[in-house]
Amino acid sequence: MALTPALTDTLGRPLRDLRISVTDRCNLRCTYCMPAEIFGPNYAFLPRAEILSFEEIERLARIFVGLGVQKLRLTGGEPLLRASLEELVARLAQIPGDVDIALTTNGTLLKSKARALKNAGLKRVTVSLDALEGDKFAAVNGGKTTVATVLEGIEAAATAGLAVKINMVVQKGINDDQLEAMAAFFREQQHILRFIEFMDVGNHNGWNLERVLPSSEIVRRIAEKVGPLEPVSANHSGEVASRYRYTDTPKGEIGLISSVTAPFCGDCSRMRLSAKGELYTCLFSSVGHDLRTFLRDGSSSDTQIINTIKSIWTARVDRYSELRGEQTEDTLEGRKKVEMSHIGG
Ligand code: GTP
Ligand code: 5AD
Ligand code: SF4
Ligand code: SF4
Repeated sequence: MALTPALTDTLGRPLRDLRISVTDRCNLRCTYCMPAEIFGPNYAFLPRAEILSFEEIERLARIFVGLGVQKLRLTGGEPLLRASLEELVARLAQIPGDVDIALTTNGTLLKSKARALKNAGLKRVTVSLDALEGDKFAAVNGGKTTVATVLEGIEAAATAGLAVKINMVVQKGINDDQLEAMAAFFREQQHILRFIEFMDVGNHNGWNLERVLPSSEIVRRIAEKVGPLEPVSANHSGEVASRYRYTDTPKGEIGLISSVTAPFCGDCSRMRLSAKGELYTCLFSSVGHDLRTFLRDGSSSDTQIINTIKSIWTARVDRYSELRGEQTEDTLEGRKKVEMSHIGG
């Protein structure tokens, strides 16, 4: 089918992906995303009435697909905490246009949900897993689940027929000793494992360059210990991961998401919708654009919403990771950023 011509921003980047956060809550407390000291029992999560309903999300998703978006990714917090998420997937799957529908999850609830999600029309799932050793895993996420639980979720997803990828956030000195074991394990399991450089998202995750293990080092270590690697070209323009494949057997592929050492803002085609209906043009944005008012004021037409989205995207200038790399903007330091749990990474 012919592609709908995309909207382009000030840097000529097309709008092709929409990441939809369906909740700001999570049942884990990863230190790099929702540290327990900040996201404790008294943390004010969004009240139910503030969160977009499935009908509201579907309306926006249809509009975005009409504007050229080809991929919808459901995120959180933890999206599977949202009751009956498969009903939202089913609504999105009915949008015409051969849209790629994916989910990013921590995997803890996947075992019981995988089949229903697949039946509803989900195609792909990406599961976060930062270690295979229990104590390392617990040190990263607060010990609220087990490696076995997540592995069961991954297996259930694969059995249900979902394409599975694994995300591992690598922190030097915290879980980087798990790299080789993770690579060997998921090579054997034939799932693509992506290594993510620790990023300075949000305001509380204690980011520091010394904790970042550069992707080049990750590739070097895996090639030495797990198997020889060669780069593979991207599946599509705007793909965040650089791909590598093993050149011996068994075959297999890994990905590197190098937001710190090799920023990929140049072809960033992503818009993010928060659970309360704000649009963000960058993972590191300070402010979002409210769309919920249009959805709830009872009088706004789709045309008004379309025009708003167009004006936001066509004015877009964001390239945070590149600017941080160039360190040309003092204003980046100390700037308040949206929390990762509001826009799902
Ligand atoms: P595929 O569709 O399979 O390519 O997945 P994806 O990479 O779009 O999704 P996923 O949710 O697995 O994201 C992987 C990691 O890349 C997460 O840590 C994201 O936070 C990070 N990431 C995704 N998009 C961006 C982006 O635009 N900028 C930055 N800096 N990081 C991003
Ligand atoms: N740096 C890198 N990746 C992160 N994620 C969450 N916080 C960070 C961070 N500070 C990852 C999660 C998940 C994806 C959506 O984003 O582990 O895989
Ligand atoms: Fe939850 Fe994912 Fe954030 Fe970890 S990274 S706290 S699993 S939303
Ligand atoms: Fe896109 Fe912002 Fe990430 Fe750059 S830093 S790739 S502009 S989301």
